[in-house]
Amino acid sequence: MAGLEGKVALVTGAGGMRGVGRATALKLAGQGADIVLTDVHREAHDLPPGEVRADWRGIDTVAEEIGALDRRCLPLYCDLGEPDQIQRMVEQAVDHFGHIDILVNNARAIIGRDKVPVTDLPQEVWDHFLAINTTAVFVCTKFVGQEMVRRGAGGRIINIASNAAKQASAMGAAYSASKFAVLGLTQASAMDLAPHKITVNAVCPGPINTDRLSYWERDRADEEGISLEQFRGQIVERAGMASPLGRIAEPEDVANMVAFLASDDAAFITGQAYNVNGGLLFH
Ligand SMILES: NC(=O)c1ccc[n+]([C@@H]2O[C@H](COP(=O)([O-])OP(=O)(O)OC[C@H]3O[C@@H](n4cnc5c(N)ncnc54)[C@H](O)[C@@H]3O)[C@@H](O)[C@H]2O)c1
Repeated sequence: MAGLEGKVALVTGAGGMRGVGRATALKLAGQGADIVLTDVHREAHDLPPGEVRADWRGIDTVAEEIGALDRRCLPLYCDLGEPDQIQRMVEQAVDHFGHIDILVNNARAIIGRDKVPVTDLPQEVWDHFLAINTTAVFVCTKFVGQEMVRRGAGGRIINIASNAAKQASAMGAAYSASKFAVLGLTQASAMDLAPHKITVNAVCPGPINTDRLSYWERDRADEEGISLEQFRGQIVERAGMASPLGRIAEPEDVANMVAFLASDDAAFITGQAYNVNGGLLFH
């Protein structure tokens, strides 16, 4: 795989200790890219218990890890629900590094409040999911895409979607709709940006062994009188048994696909949506 020396990658939702964003940032840095890390400031009650225990400092800690790889890194806090903040974040990244070559739209709304039948889904939950999972992907694509076009050196935009972008499930209306929309955005952006040698692709993971916070999982764990981590462990084990390859994805499985799509080897691939799901879904 071609190296990424001299490239700058911007990764959203990059602060989670066991998240796809951190794994992706470390993978791209390991291949030589300098990194812009961005995330929202999260209150302690919105953090996975493991991060609280570890005194994890989100993108500031990840920035130290990237520094240890001898890559340059700029951590920037930004609420992706605020388009003005996104525009400012992109400006700061370009002021600092001069260019952005790779954009990874990885962040998503904290899950759990969406996990109800569509008839019970509060409008504000729907609006929040569409704002963070879809509109923010559009706004990041727009402002980073403008910079890539201005520079004229091509680029890579990689949107982290989901199995749920191809097949919905019960109690998943907001999440699935937000992720289906990302695939439409991926295809349309790919066509708009192809003349500028900017490719746009999506990655569709099945379940991933992250410690993502889910309000729904936390409530069920409380009801069962077990810790969130025990409850999560049960989900990971059951999902692994249901997977043809006998496990669910690790964050690094997703990061590996992102790194390939970011590389020169993927120069002729655009508008696609690649599954990373251990054989759970085929289309
Ligand atoms: N975890 C899974 O099982 C799974 C499965 C399929 C797809 N995915 C997708 O993979 C990607 C990463 O998943 P994960 O589990 O690592 O994520 P996660 O849920 O742990 O974290 C997502 C990140 O988004 C950030 N975020 C939330 N609200 C934000 C806001 N308003 N502004 C800016 N950032 C905000 C969070 O702080 C966090 O860093 C997501 O796009 C997700 O939809 C995850």
